[in-house]
Amino acid sequence: MDGTIGANAVVRLLGDWTGGRRPRADVLRDALRGLVLEGQLPPGTRLPSERAFAGGLGVSRNLVTSALDELRELGFVESRRGAGSWTSLPPGDGGSAGAGGWYPPGREDVVNFAQGTPEALPEVFEAVSRAHRRLTPAVAGHGYHPQGTGELRERIAERFEARGLATTPDQVMITNGAQHAFALVLRALVAPGQRVLVEQPTYPNSLEAIRGTHARPVAVPMVDGYWDLDLLEATLAQGSPRLAYLIPDFQNPTGARMSERDRERLGSALKRHRTTAVVDETMVELDLSTGPAPPPQAAFAESEVVTVGSASKVFWGGLRLGWIRAPRDFVRRLVVGRAAVDLGSPALEQLVLSELLEHSAESLPRRREQLRHGRDRLVAALGEWCPEWTYRVPEGGLSLWCDTGGHYGSRLVAAAERHGVRLASSSRFSVEGDLDSRLRLPYTLPAEVLEDAVGRLARAAAELSPETEGVGAQLVT
Ligand SMILES: Cc1ncc(COP(=O)(O)O)c(C=O)c1O
Repeated sequence: MDGTIGANAVVRLLGDWTGGRRPRADVLRDALRGLVLEGQLPPGTRLPSERAFAGGLGVSRNLVTSALDELRELGFVESRRGAGSWTSLPPGDGGSAGAGGWYPPGREDVVNFAQGTPEALPEVFEAVSRAHRRLTPAVAGHGYHPQGTGELRERIAERFEARGLATTPDQVMITNGAQHAFALVLRALVAPGQRVLVEQPTYPNSLEAIRGTHARPVAVPMVDGYWDLDLLEATLAQGSPRLAYLIPDFQNPTGARMSERDRERLGSALKRHRTTAVVDETMVELDLSTGPAPPPQAAFAESEVVTVGSASKVFWGGLRLGWIRAPRDFVRRLVVGRAAVDLGSPALEQLVLSELLEHSAESLPRRREQLRHGRDRLVAALGEWCPEWTYRVPEGGLSLWCDTGGHYGSRLVAAAERHGVRLASSSRFSVEGDLDSRLRLPYTLPAEVLEDAVGRLARAAAELSPETEGVGAQLVT
């Protein structure tokens, strides 16, 4: 067991769980199951006593007992006399909770709408063959490269240069993905209790990383899906965050891209307040628009910006490679500190990524075309099945952030799961968990799967609307 949660905290997580005409014990059961599935109540969380829980919710103890009994039967709660009750996952759901909705083993029938994780491009296989042919010289030496291989760092530096940002290979460090990169920077810069500014909504695993260092995320809401620079500047001035974590390029989940003018303003504000920003460029290459790209954020505040990037979205997440670009001295500090965590990234994968980057003139347009197709089919399916949902068509990235208009919260996660669709609950994208009507829909799945999933989702949402709740069982297909 990992932790204990108080009745008030569970009540807060549940939000507005009531409503509709379904039996309230069923609704509570589904809402709690949703919280377990999407990692808000990770397996092993000790639950409050039934009496405290009922008191906090303002419902009868019988109702709580009945919901928990069913969850016990389904394998989402375990209890032992004298030890209390805690959350758990039934066999086969082991991979889902807390990990952003990975396909659970044995549940391939569930469409995974919780992640934006494209499959490997065919070029990955060709790059592996080419890397294989160059293996003999590459395996000379011990193979430990805590900063990354010289060749790959050179390739990454060239890509920054091509975007107008002068970069030398000693300003680059190779990591095991962008998530690892952010965790290393957090570890180097942020102490427990310090504030880290984040956009709201933001990428859930980054929020987890911030919380994992016992730092305090401070949310700056996106307004109409875009950055409000006045608000950002005010928070930098008044909140004195130790660090800011920002995704200016095809923000996850909104898909928005920050304008050049706002980047300039942000750069000046970072300098003025002497705040370091981690700029997450995981999505930067996934540009689905036709306009010119603005310069990288680091071009406006060279000393204040630490850029993290990734090979996961363009090429393949399975490479597990990313990078950090930062001032030389800071990179040196990170390389020294890395030894406490790991001793470097795999040398063979770095060889493969060097090959991929060298030949990206073919692969990158292919990935963009795939995503453009997926995005357009998703938009068409939403138009057909959910015409009242609103969203901005993303200019790039992997997902669409839509407003369902209904405050479903984790109930929709549970209802969608019953319809064979796994969702990431909107609360995971926020510091306070208050984005109940929102949904992130990735467009990385094949078009037919996307279209089918939107149909299922529409039926799940219809079950929860006040007019139809209670007849939901008839709608399940
Ligand atoms: C904004 C953002 N940052 C980081 C990551 C993690 O990337 P990686 O696979 O390189 O660790 C993701 C993955 O979805 C992401 O969307």
